Amino acid sequence: MNLRLYIRLRTERNRARVAHKFLCFPALAALLTCLTLTSLCEAQAAKKIQPNVSKQPFGKMDDGTQVDLYTLTNAHGVEARITNYGGIVVSLKVPDRTGKLDDVVLGYDNLDGYLKNNGPYMGALIGRYANRIAKGRFKLNGVEYRLAQNNGENHLHGGLKGFDKVFWSAQSGTRPNGASLTLTYVSKDGEEGYPGNVRVTVVYTLTNANELRIDYSATTDKTTVINLTHHSYFNLAGQGQGDILQHQMFINANRFTPTDQSSIPTGKLKNIRGTPFDFLKPAAIGARIDQDDEQLGFGHGYDHNWVLNKQGQALTLAARVREPKSGRIMEVFTTEPGIQFYTGNFLDGTITGKAGKVYNRRYGFCLEAQHFPDSPNQPGFPTVVLQPRGKYRQTTIYRFFAK
Ligand code: GLA
Repeated sequence: MNLRLYIRLRTERNRARVAHKFLCFPALAALLTCLTLTSLCEAQAAKKIQPNVSKQPFGKMDDGTQVDLYTLTNAHGVEARITNYGGIVVSLKVPDRTGKLDDVVLGYDNLDGYLKNNGPYMGALIGRYANRIAKGRFKLNGVEYRLAQNNGENHLHGGLKGFDKVFWSAQSGTRPNGASLTLTYVSKDGEEGYPGNVRVTVVYTLTNANELRIDYSATTDKTTVINLTHHSYFNLAGQGQGDILQHQMFINANRFTPTDQSSIPTGKLKNIRGTPFDFLKPAAIGARIDQDDEQLGFGHGYDHNWVLNKQGQALTLAARVREPKSGRIMEVFTTEPGIQFYTGNFLDGTITGKAGKVYNRRYGFCLEAQHFPDSPNQPGFPTVVLQPRGKYRQTTIYRFFAK
């Protein structure tokens, strides 16, 4: 081989090597990436938590009925504990901005706490009529019905033994989008003074989108009134971790229903502009709560119904609350026309709740999706009448995330 030929061959070989390097390396890198990703995905899939429900005894009611506590978990490890006594949400653990789970609802460690002290209706389902009916009276088709006057001279939250104090039949299950608990209760004709046998179903679903979704439905065999809600006290910093006055609140409402001194609506819808009831621009709950305002005086703080900005029964955003330290945010969506924003004004430190935490004034707030208070006596408010062939339906979602 002469020198020129030798040099040419070497050059060709070197070119081929370089080409080989540049062509093969990306292919190799892509192959390696692919393999790594596949094994990562497999590891993730193996690690992924499936929605789950488990059940444990929670205690016995005074008549000996065994009550259970259901633990619902979603694919992210978010956990809701719900009992079939009163449909009470006993605990709700959601992540802060670092992923740390905390229990964000007030309550008791055991059934006894709820049986003995649940004057504040902590975590419970409320019915047949959430909120107040003036003087415990209303008329339907010319017949007057009389109810317990358990809040001064008014009727509150369904009476002496409302849906918050009854045993619900329970059926738990999992679906691809989360874990659920279906609760049913039949309220007999005349129970707490209300007409009609009313069959109620409430489905709690803890979805993989970190939502606690509540689907309510009810039917009756006689014309009646109905207004259901859920009464959790939230503290997004964690239950028992101080008051809720620094939480930033947004309420999607231009109007609220002002009340008399006993918290019965006057029937008027008042514009929130220029009042401490304006939460269209997010504001700290505590910023104006103690202002010298007649309505705040009547409620001892916020304890009012906001008229949500919406068309008909669409599921729309009602409120958004942000706790600055943890970064937790809760959004409430509902099909209802109103929401009661109550700031725990009647908590007074006499209750020792979960993990020995003492609940002082304004240690929790409620966002109770509802029809307006005293609607049975207020012809101008959206109707709460349920007819035998009709069906009551409500969906309310509490959605959690952190920033
Ligand atoms: C509702 C009422 C409040 C109070 C609480 C329970 O939110 O509007 O006035 O009665 O329930 O303490």
